[in-house]
Amino acid sequence: MNASAQGEGSTVGAPPLLEVRGLNVSFGKKSVLGRGRVVRAVNDVGLQIASGETLGLVGESGSGKSTTGRAVLQLVPADSGSIRLDGREIMGVRGKALRGLRRQMQMVFQDPYSSLDPSTTVGASITEPLRVHEGLSGRASRERVAELLDLVGLRPSHADRYPYEFSGGQRQRVAIARALSINPQLVVCDEAVSALDVSTQNQVINLLEDLRESLRLSYLFIAHDLAVVRHISHRVAVMYLGHIVETGPIERVYESPAHPYTQALLSAIPVPNPDRKDRGRRILLQGDLPDPADPPAGCPFSTRCAYVMPVCRVEMPATTAVDGGGGVACHLQTAGPVLAGRSLSHLGMPAVPDGRTARGRLQPAAEGPQTSAVNT
Ligand SMILES: Nc1ncnc2c1ncn2[C@@H]1O[C@H](COP(=O)(O)OP(=O)(O)O)[C@@H](O)[C@H]1O
Ligand code: SF4
Ligand SMILES: [Mg+2]
Repeated sequence: MNASAQGEGSTVGAPPLLEVRGLNVSFGKKSVLGRGRVVRAVNDVGLQIASGETLGLVGESGSGKSTTGRAVLQLVPADSGSIRLDGREIMGVRGKALRGLRRQMQMVFQDPYSSLDPSTTVGASITEPLRVHEGLSGRASRERVAELLDLVGLRPSHADRYPYEFSGGQRQRVAIARALSINPQLVVCDEAVSALDVSTQNQVINLLEDLRESLRLSYLFIAHDLAVVRHISHRVAVMYLGHIVETGPIERVYESPAHPYTQALLSAIPVPNPDRKDRGRRILLQGDLPDPADPPAGCPFSTRCAYVMPVCRVEMPATTAVDGGGGVACHLQTAGPVLAGRSLSHLGMPAVPDGRTARGRLQPAAEGPQTSAVNT
């Protein structure tokens, strides 16, 4: 197996709707003299999502989550890899085939303004994909808009209003209605509830859950809020510096993280989990995310890891299976072997440099609003 923690099957037992293997995406170019900055935003990423399943994708800001989602939807070009939807290779499709794909995969952004034209009524915004993809117009389209508004808990009369007339939660409902208008199978939710207050967040999450069940949707749910991801996901993938470092069923990963980065991220969730042996302790992550244009040799997490060993600075760890499901890319599983498939709780908490409990440093950075105006 290659170096990222990828590829374990879904928890809902169905064949994968989406299967990503060895996905690489970079930005920027080097000149013939080797000058210039190349950011490897996504490195050898693999994911699977079954029909009706939600895969959470977590990691600090800048770890490559959005780029992964966008590459899956063919909104940014990938350098290499394979993306299969319903068994069909879709990497690099163009023209009519790409338009066909847009029907099957949609995206909901953090900021609904990025997918809703402020000068257009929400009815017209929801109608646009119907017109483009289904040639629907006139009465049929108005009826479908009313149906969709009802589906997301709004009233048919809302169709005549403009985005600014809605609250943040209502606007996100409109964006969801628009994304669902052409019956997609997969929806990439990129920080879709991150800008909402907690009670509105809960309402929109419940709505997404209801829609997933009634329409058998699959979600790639990208978020930096780990509590939200736990609530909505069946499985989770943890991303660091463009790599998937751990995957697994949500309960296993949250109760028994196997990767030191996952452990550190989870330790920052404010409500301590009474079942976790390391409850209440925050793990100090030293330093910032390294420059993705100049990543460390060996394990991408080696510059900040409390368990780092000499081998980590030289060799990329291979992915190994973890007890309870999923995989992890960490030398602790194989060097020795120390853990050999067990979670990190078998090692206890990492040492804190000054002997005190480390508190308050790791706060996965809140992300600013999406500025892209790309719609699918
Ligand atoms: N269009 C772009 N051009 C250049 N660099 C980009 C672009 N989009 C993202 N990046 C870089 O790719 C890396 C991953 O970004 P992103 O996927 O947005 O991470 P996340 O969603 O986890 O915050 C970051 O270093 C970011 O600066
Ligand atoms: S122990 Fe080594 S391989 Fe594992 S996360 Fe830390 S630096 Fe990476
Ligand atoms: Mg992002």
